[in-house]
Amino acid sequence: MNKIAVIGAGHVGLVTAACLAKLGNKVVCVDNDRKKIIDLVKDGVQKKRLAFSFSIEKSTRISRIIFICVGTPSKPDGEADLSAIEAVTAEVAKAMNGYKLLVEKSTVPVMTGEWMKRTINLIRKKNADFDVAANPEFLKEGSAISDFMKPERIVIGTESERAKKILEEIYQPIKAPIIFTDVKSAELIKHASNSFLAVKISYINAISQICEKVGADVESIAKGMGYDSRIGKAFLSPGVGYGGSCFPKDVAAFIHLAKEVGYDFSLLKAVQKINQEQISLIFKKIKKYLWTLKNKKIGILGLSFKPDTDDIREAPSLKIMERLLSEEAILSVYDPKAMEETKKIFPRRTIYCKNPYQVCKGAELLLVLTEWEEFKKLDLKRVKKLLGKPHLIDGRNIYEPEKMKKLGFVYEGVGR
Ligand code: UGA
Repeated sequence: MNKIAVIGAGHVGLVTAACLAKLGNKVVCVDNDRKKIIDLVKDGVQKKRLAFSFSIEKSTRISRIIFICVGTPSKPDGEADLSAIEAVTAEVAKAMNGYKLLVEKSTVPVMTGEWMKRTINLIRKKNADFDVAANPEFLKEGSAISDFMKPERIVIGTESERAKKILEEIYQPIKAPIIFTDVKSAELIKHASNSFLAVKISYINAISQICEKVGADVESIAKGMGYDSRIGKAFLSPGVGYGGSCFPKDVAAFIHLAKEVGYDFSLLKAVQKINQEQISLIFKKIKKYLWTLKNKKIGILGLSFKPDTDDIREAPSLKIMERLLSEEAILSVYDPKAMEETKKIFPRRTIYCKNPYQVCKGAELLLVLTEWEEFKKLDLKRVKKLLGKPHLIDGRNIYEPEKMKKLGFVYEGVGR
């Protein structure tokens, strides 16, 4: 049985630890946040093969393979902050008591593996042999376990046969194509994949802007494009732009990294610009109907960066709320999961409602910012009656324009 330590019990680390245990390995998951671990143990998440610890030292000693899943947040200039990776690597190196395989799972810029090796070589005892491998994760929030257990591909970047064999064996129970490559290429595959998905989103958002100018329907265009298997249907939904803890950070980090190595990644800069424009466009639309915003009630449905999560990191809703509040609007908002998190950021001038209908009461304009299923099924006649004025700006195209107009809404979607 493989003995594995997973360092970091965040979204990625927890799923990785639980799934590796399910695959038959003995796993210890390490985090310095004691409360997080205690809660998890209480919840009964731990099974016989899964343990939790707050000691990197102890976990390193009892494990042969160490997955590093700590955060790599953005610095103000977009560069990835790798201080947590460095600190963990150094601690592991200090505790190494024999051969260890360190596996990067966090999204990291190319060359991180090189830096890890240098750090370990400075610290380790002579007899402590090691390898560094890159095995990027492609987990989506909301479907992380199935993304792990039934992935479309597994990427393994190694520099030795020994490391390759160990990882091949770990993933052997999973049926998926494995791409074996070198560490640097594996690191780049993750950045290149996430950035490409962001390109797709910004591309369709750019098309949506043209559609608005000429009176075409971006949804039909996405459909017409998506049937071409070379293009594919996924990630062609226009809207208020991409958010979350991955795309904004990863695109910024990739631009920064490219610059460092002497390449001006102008394509990705345009992707970022289009993503920001989607938010400004929502404002233009609001201003079309409401002259000034001071003391006007605006309703918002959807706060999380995508449905089925309470995650509001880099959510478009935050930027929109900030701007509306700076113009002294009064907000009434609802989200099935993300209210508590949002309340911490915007405690004032915002009414956190019990349901979508309460949001609508007396509002002069209603914004839809996340495509939760619940919002698709609303009683729209009731919504219309409750609204002070029937303005509805649908930032995710969840409603049909024709139907909305028939119901008497002054309705605007994105690019249609
Ligand atoms: C993303 C990737 O999809 C995962 O493969 C990757 O592992 C993960 O980042 C990561 O790097 O950890 P995630 O951020 O959970 O996953 O969410 P996505 O479902 O990719 O959505 C990201 C954002 O793009 C959301 O704000 C969503 O609303 C937006 N989006 C997505 C669109 O605006 N249009 C689309 O067509 C698709």
